[in-house]
Amino acid sequence: MAREKAVRETYTELAQVMLIHQANAAGNIHGGEIMKLMDSAAGVCAIKHSGKICVTARVDELQFHRPIYVGSLVTCTSKVVYVGKSSMEIYVLVEVEDLASGRPREKALSGYFTMVALDKSGRPTEVPGLKIETEEEQTLFEEGRARYKSYKLKREKGKN
Ligand SMILES: CC(C)(COP(=O)(O)OP(=O)(O)OC[C@H]1O[C@@H](n2cnc3c(N)ncnc32)[C@H](O)[C@@H]1OP(=O)(O)O)[C@@H](O)C(=O)NCCC(=O)NCCS
Repeated sequence: MAREKAVRETYTELAQVMLIHQANAAGNIHGGEIMKLMDSAAGVCAIKHSGKICVTARVDELQFHRPIYVGSLVTCTSKVVYVGKSSMEIYVLVEVEDLASGRPREKALSGYFTMVALDKSGRPTEVPGLKIETEEEQTLFEEGRARYKSYKLKREKGKN
């Protein structure tokens, strides 16, 4: 296995101002627009960690905490929280800021993305281990491991 990488080495931030073509007639931004940004942030994170091409295998616990409107600044941050053999679980947080109001950023969406690293033939390939440096990282790692084990079990039983 390649050298371990620290969680902080995987931090990624993508930001975008939401525009009218991304919204419905009432000015609410479509959920899919934000999910695409989250997928990109998770992908960048996975590539930073593995140095390989990565694909999205799964999205879990995706929650929409509040609506987002045209003109808002959306900031998407992501980090690797757990790694298996070829898979990585990435936590993605979306915060929204109404620039005109001057109010602080608010949590808008969050979710966990499982990304799988592929070799040149398109087969899953081993990724570096994850170096845990804080208690919070340890907690997220253990929660990630529990989800990873439960997906494996479901897949083995053909329920996924
Ligand atoms: C993801 C994919 C490469 C896995 O291929 P596979 O032949 O099932 O590979 P494996 O069974 O060896 O699993 C590889 C890893 O993926 C994980 N995995 C595969 N499917 C998963 C799922 N549905 N949920 C969570 N993890 C999954 C496995 O647990 C394994 O992790 P590990 O190596 O860390 O233990 C394959 O299903 C695929 O190509 N899916 C489509 C991906 C895609 O096109 N995404 C959208 C565009 S990016």
